[in-house]
Amino acid sequence: MMIVTCHSLWWSPKPGEPDVIMGVANDKSRIGNPAGSRTRCRGFSGSEGAGDDRGGVNQGGGDQRGILMSTATWPDDRRITIRDLQEATDRGERWSMLTSYDAITAAVFEEAGVRALLVGDTSAQMVLGHPDTLPVTMDQLITMVQAVVRGTRTALVVADLPFGSYQSGPQAALANAVRHLKEGGAHAVKLEGGRRVVPQVQALVGAGIPVMGHLGLTPQSVNVLGGVRRVQGRGEAGDELLADARALERAGVFAVVLESVPAELGRRVSEALRVPTVGIGAGPYCDAQILVWQDMAGLTAGRLPRFVKRYANLRDVLAAAARRYAEEVAGQRYPDPDHSYA
Ligand code: KIV
Repeated sequence: MMIVTCHSLWWSPKPGEPDVIMGVANDKSRIGNPAGSRTRCRGFSGSEGAGDDRGGVNQGGGDQRGILMSTATWPDDRRITIRDLQEATDRGERWSMLTSYDAITAAVFEEAGVRALLVGDTSAQMVLGHPDTLPVTMDQLITMVQAVVRGTRTALVVADLPFGSYQSGPQAALANAVRHLKEGGAHAVKLEGGRRVVPQVQALVGAGIPVMGHLGLTPQSVNVLGGVRRVQGRGEAGDELLADARALERAGVFAVVLESVPAELGRRVSEALRVPTVGIGAGPYCDAQILVWQDMAGLTAGRLPRFVKRYANLRDVLAAAARRYAEEVAGQRYPDPDHSYA
């Protein structure tokens, strides 16, 4: 049986050293923001903006294309916090997230400079072989959160609240978010929805739990969306999404994932919010990006959504290795003397 657990198919049915960080000057740096506290980027296009003097301001200056070269250092001796992410955004630096569901990939991604990892409910598909995100449970996610936390030293680990764990209200949301932090060791949680989940967000934030919102394509609503291949927020629906994003920010989220929305809407929301937007299929104007790691690395098969860029072809690499191994065992060439104890 070939299990195709592709995010896209589901859509259709050392740390340690100072980093050189590439970032595109944030549109937020050029606009007024509702909170009134958006920092202007220094060093962009030679301008010295009117930002505040918090640490880590870009020292590097811009190049001809408006790309920031920052020498700001991300922490090496402690976990990245939501404040670090906000400060990076305030500096106009772009940062990245990936999903991760196990200790080994988590360590690899952290070493590669991915600042935050999401133990997403996409694990239902990527790890457990389900057709959508709905079946994964708190217990299953907590086991994966524990592994990702064990595998990392500095990355911020965000744990998804799965379908059914928060929809009934603030109390359920709080109980399950507390489990993610207490049992899993997560540093933040994510939930889907806009104005309708504001009471849940307020309860969690009030209890000291950092919350990431998720708008646009919200896969836990697959059954009302009638499939999850659609771009969300086209036309007037964009105003609704923007209102949701503002409501989430007012409720205290530290970031908002925008999934499968037009790039122009990604820009509008990113300009309107002070907190970082984390895009997945939301265009180039978001403050950060996230991808499902198996899609990013080319491990998943089949048609991928337009926004996915495959940075490797791990599926072919892994298949070739497994094929050679099977052939060598069948041909009695493995194990050879070099791989046997005398
Ligand atoms: O669960 C997940 O992996 C997600 C990302 C697609 C953002 O929510």
